[in-house]
Amino acid sequence: MSSNNSSEDEKKNLNNINPNDSVNKEEKKDKEKDKNKSQIIDNKISQQSNQSLSNVLDEKEIYNIPISIGHSNSNSNSNNSNNSNNSKNDSKSDEKSENQENNNNIINTSKEENNNNNNDINTSNLNNNINNNINKIINNENDWEMHPTEGPIGMSSASKDPEEYRHLRSIVSAFFNYQIDSLRDVSRMERDFKSIGEKYIKRLSFNYTERIEKLKHAIWQNYSFLLKIADPYKNMFKLFKASSGEVLMEPLIVEGKDIIKMRSTLRLFIRDWAIDGIDERNSTYKPILNELKLYFKDKTKKDFENGINVLVPGAGLGRLMYEIAKLGFKSQGNEFSYYMLLCSNYIFNNTTKENEFTIQPLIHSFSNIYNEEDPFRKIMIPDENLAEELSKTDTGEMSMVAGEFCRVYKEKINFFDSIVTCYFIDTANNIIEYIETIHNILKIGGLWINFGPLLYHYTDNENEVSIELSWNEVKKIIIGFGFEFEKEDEVQTTYSANKDSMTQRIYKCIFFTAVKKK
Ligand SMILES: C[S@@+](CC[C@H](N)C(=O)[O-])C[C@H]1O[C@@H](n2cnc3c(N)ncnc32)[C@H](O)[C@@H]1O
Repeated sequence: MSSNNSSEDEKKNLNNINPNDSVNKEEKKDKEKDKNKSQIIDNKISQQSNQSLSNVLDEKEIYNIPISIGHSNSNSNSNNSNNSNNSKNDSKSDEKSENQENNNNIINTSKEENNNNNNDINTSNLNNNINNNINKIINNENDWEMHPTEGPIGMSSASKDPEEYRHLRSIVSAFFNYQIDSLRDVSRMERDFKSIGEKYIKRLSFNYTERIEKLKHAIWQNYSFLLKIADPYKNMFKLFKASSGEVLMEPLIVEGKDIIKMRSTLRLFIRDWAIDGIDERNSTYKPILNELKLYFKDKTKKDFENGINVLVPGAGLGRLMYEIAKLGFKSQGNEFSYYMLLCSNYIFNNTTKENEFTIQPLIHSFSNIYNEEDPFRKIMIPDENLAEELSKTDTGEMSMVAGEFCRVYKEKINFFDSIVTCYFIDTANNIIEYIETIHNILKIGGLWINFGPLLYHYTDNENEVSIELSWNEVKKIIIGFGFEFEKEDEVQTTYSANKDSMTQRIYKCIFFTAVKKK
């Protein structure tokens, strides 16, 4: 299944994900459209059609919003009603409780259709539970110059900057509109089957209407999970209650690219947070973790009285930084995509047990499958109880900083003991600037571990600078900055692969470790 308004290439990519698809810089958009219709945010189909989008703006500035994940002090702040503007605040909190009440109606309707109860929505708990789980992980906020989160992630900076607000809103729209955008594809599928007529339909060994029904259910299941993530942002939109009791949201328009990103983000949960992603994690994250353990095993406690600081730029959904924290390091992730930040925050701060949620992220493509059932594979997340696992380490800590890597860390000179880049260095406009930043922020004797290909992200974007260099050239530049290579290997692995698919893209990743000598 693929979106009506996505390009053919994008459709193909759902089958064969490119690491950078899910991680594109999120273009800012101005989407002020169609105020007359209402979008239903429960499991009903809206007839809303996608309209042309205006003003796709270049994404130039950063989201320089340090956030703390799991900070106990931020519990009370993790709610929109804690904004500094009091009058606004009051009206917001009123609106909020009304909305929560409204959402109970959604829960009631949706429950009937959702056999899988673990995805039932309990909106009343959503805002209160943020940051409750992993309080242990961050215990010294000053070390990290973290600020408690004010409201949902991104909200404090978005509230000060209309452009940022629009950007965040366009991404949250992709969460809220997931169901409508997906059901539109289902309608097309249904129409296409009908169009071939009984003569051909009877040759099918399966009942296509059953496929359609299963798809609708799977979409609902995914949507109810995405709604939990997006729920704290619902007040960015106009909500009202229909006479039927349903909570309606103003119509949203999501660009094809964002529909694709929403779906590939959903699929990334397999790579990072499902048992189904274990092979990919073993071939990618495990070698990195082994190098970290090896390099720091002989270092004495005295060398690192305050812990060993490891930074993971481009942390994605956060599994690698979490694994690093589990090993006892002070692990910090950095990420600039709201898709990633919202989802990882949810996993870290809102999950309480293993296999708590079921999603079906593979339903968006019926190409290259062997069996009719394959796209319906159920994915349970997270594969472990995060808080329980993290409680086993005495020294491990974890934090996430939102913002563009080079800008966020400009001033953190000689700070980190190790930097781990996994499928990251090719996301740069200018890879030399990444190398320079990594060099600046690593301590002398610090270790850089890199794993990934050189699939330059901005190659096809003529509005963006894209400096594409060969590995040999990159290597010379790394040495030129003062690094000494300790290890250099090629490791073949996949990125967000669908193991059931007939196509598999293998990356021959450069896996190196280098020490900053000067
Ligand atoms: C290909 S993904 C890899 C994610 C993760 N490391 C993994 O292996 O699954 C690259 C990630 O880097 C993030 N990213 C790209 N450029 C960035 C930048 N300049 N600053 C911060 N994050 C960035 C993207 O949003 C994306 O999540």
